[in-house]
Amino acid sequence: MDSIESCSRCSAAIQPGSRFCAGCGREIKTRQLRSERRSLTFLFFDLVDSIGLSQRLDPEDLVELLKSYQSVCRDSVTLYEGRVTQFLGDGVVAFFGYPIAHEDDEVRATRAALRVIDDIKVVNQGIGKRLGVELHVRVGLHTGEAVVGELGPSGSYQLFAVGENVNLAARIQGAAAPDTVVVSLSTAKQIEGHFQIEALDPQSLKGFGAMIELFRVVAATGARTKLEAAARGQLTPRVGREREMAVIASSWAEVQKGASRILFVRGEAGIGKSRLIHDFKQSALATGAEVFECFCSRLTDRTALAPIVEMLNALVSKRVGDEPAARSNTTASSRRPVSCRTVPRLDIAPADSGRSSSDRR
Ligand SMILES: Nc1ncnc2c1ncn2[C@@H]1O[C@H](COP(=O)(O)OP(=O)(O)OP(=O)(O)O)[C@@H](O)[C@H]1O
Ligand SMILES: [Mg+2]
Repeated sequence: MDSIESCSRCSAAIQPGSRFCAGCGREIKTRQLRSERRSLTFLFFDLVDSIGLSQRLDPEDLVELLKSYQSVCRDSVTLYEGRVTQFLGDGVVAFFGYPIAHEDDEVRATRAALRVIDDIKVVNQGIGKRLGVELHVRVGLHTGEAVVGELGPSGSYQLFAVGENVNLAARIQGAAAPDTVVVSLSTAKQIEGHFQIEALDPQSLKGFGAMIELFRVVAATGARTKLEAAARGQLTPRVGREREMAVIASSWAEVQKGASRILFVRGEAGIGKSRLIHDFKQSALATGAEVFECFCSRLTDRTALAPIVEMLNALVSKRVGDEPAARSNTTASSRRPVSCRTVPRLDIAPADSGRSSSDRR
């Protein structure tokens, strides 16, 4: 949690209202508190039957259990770069979208929520088993505008978000069944394709007049990008890009004759890089080629060889389901070693210019 400020010189905690640091005597400059209106995705976690737990457990054991639960929530939210803002007994409040906003905050928030439900099972296997209890959690998510910023008496700052969307997320959590993640329509629209979602009956939630549409998140689909998520539905037909597809096709034809080729595709955001690769992949798969994909992700930037490890994991789990005959067709010995001699570059320009940037050079 972001709360008490510390001295920039000696790191001692600064008491609210202090003019000087109690540790080193440095004068404390009053910070300007910031707040702004932002679109955020709120998460509310709540333990099922916490009153029952408090009746059954010794208070010290309960504290130990609650600490494990809170750590699970904080670690999952932090992993996906969200912020936990409050621990309210057995409730945990978090949001994604401030101070760092990611274009896929809703997806990150949902991944964090599902991870909490999984990790609570680990807590149940450990301390839960020892104490003879099981934790179950409900999670509610909602995306909407709120005023977010820092709040607190002088010297003590805490991240906060205020607005009816925060309350709605809390109500949605109350409507979730144990060990499920329930999201509002605004979140569901942004995570479609990334997760299987199931519409629940609309509910009237206390304090909100209209019936609220709710959706249960069943599982991740495995889509890693916006395009992969969109491709789980129907993509609109490709327009143009004949020149780029021809470059790719000619490199592919050379590869099929035994050459090794690497293509770089680069261009501004949203211009159609992933779509080119997707369409090439589909055409290669149609000719019986096997596609191996590695993805870099900021979430794994501290894990050595993460893209390779993920690719191998995906491959192994796919192979486990394969027939033995299919497996023997794709043994390592049946593949040629790779040595890349040329590295063509495919810079892509806006589709309507009809030229690739390599033509322009
Ligand atoms: N030639 C095209 N014809 C039709 N639709 C296209 C074409 N190129 C891209 N699109 C669509 O535009 C959207 C954005 O394309 P895409 O995801 O490939 O862009 P990108 O360059 O990879 O973006 P980012 O930089 O965010 O990764 C997608 O929905 C894609 O299907
Ligand atoms: Mg892309």
